[in-house]
Amino acid sequence: MKIHLIAAARPNFMKIAPLYHALKNELWAKPFIIHTGQHYDINMSDAFFDDLMLPEPDLHLGVGSGTHAQQTGKVMIAYEKVLIKEIPDLVVVVGDVNSTVAATLAAAKLGIRVAHLEAGLRSFDRTMPEEINRIATDALADMLWTPSLDADENLLREGVDRSRIVRVGNIMIDSFEMLRPKIESVSVYKDFRLSQGQYGVVTLHRPANVDSESKLRKLCNTLQNISMQLKLIFPVHPRTLKNLKVYGLIDTLAQNENILLTEPLSYISFMNLVLNCHLAITDSGGIQEETSYLGIPCFTLRPNTERPITVSQGTNRLCSVNNVLDAVRAVMTNTKRQKKNIDFWDGKTAKRVVSEIQNHIQ
Ligand code: UD1
Repeated sequence: MKIHLIAAARPNFMKIAPLYHALKNELWAKPFIIHTGQHYDINMSDAFFDDLMLPEPDLHLGVGSGTHAQQTGKVMIAYEKVLIKEIPDLVVVVGDVNSTVAATLAAAKLGIRVAHLEAGLRSFDRTMPEEINRIATDALADMLWTPSLDADENLLREGVDRSRIVRVGNIMIDSFEMLRPKIESVSVYKDFRLSQGQYGVVTLHRPANVDSESKLRKLCNTLQNISMQLKLIFPVHPRTLKNLKVYGLIDTLAQNENILLTEPLSYISFMNLVLNCHLAITDSGGIQEETSYLGIPCFTLRPNTERPITVSQGTNRLCSVNNVLDAVRAVMTNTKRQKKNIDFWDGKTAKRVVSEIQNHIQ
């Protein structure tokens, strides 16, 4: 069975890796990694392939950056050619980036079966490009593999037939558990001269936070204030770096000794920082999940989340630029981690997906 795994952007690599490793051991399956090239910098892509022990992609579409329509269109045009030539038995798309919806559209129109891993998540905020990608992908994919009960409920509410939905769990946790020994064996936080449990990890890249000058300026001021309480390490996403430079905000941040700016880090290095931090301040989806799994307080700078389970059952709290400082202060002296077990977040999602493909699709 020829199975295409669509890799495209940084958060996708952690989602396809466990599945690739599980499928490559099956005699009946031949997984192919198709990299669309949405992310292309070494530290946004190759470094993740190395850490996650993924081979070179079987095909690289090289689409690069662009507007939403350009990026989506370029992936569709390039991937359609591949689909016509290769005719895979199944295309697996993950997450909610532009390449996810583009590959789904191209395959669905050729009548090729598509499975969406991480289906059903909804922020109910259509100003997020990812929400449009999620809705369109789920409308078209034949199989919807969900991480949590709320995702099943969202799909059922949208009228999806129950037979298309299978709760497989959270595949990101598989990647973490697969690499836990390595993540625990390095001490990246020490390389940055940070002490265990005495710093916060910051990531920001959502257009709603970093594209507007006034919003980004306010966020930078807030980070400066938080850094008086707690040292911060901030691996800066290329979109954010570009805007920090354009708006003239980078120098003040860089001069603050309590804010360590770095380039984006590889998976193992970044997760070592997360594992040993006191708290995280982020607008990423994956970090809300990883911190919840590890019982680390997470302050998400967004008005909503497509991962509500991280708030109801995890350690995530939605914040705004106006209240995040107080929220951080409130947990400054709290050193106890609140690890909670969330159903199907157990490192066995890839196994469940493989059985699902074998039993119901093959
Ligand atoms: C994309 C996803 C987002 C995901 C994020 C993770 C969409 C709509 N957005 O956002 O859901 O959370 O990836 O990082 O698919 N750039 C580089 N080097 C790279 C990649 C990007 O310099 O390797 C710069 C380019 O200037 C580019 C900008 O970053 O224009 C944004 O990249 P893009 O892939 O369009 O969106 P992200 O913000 O990364």
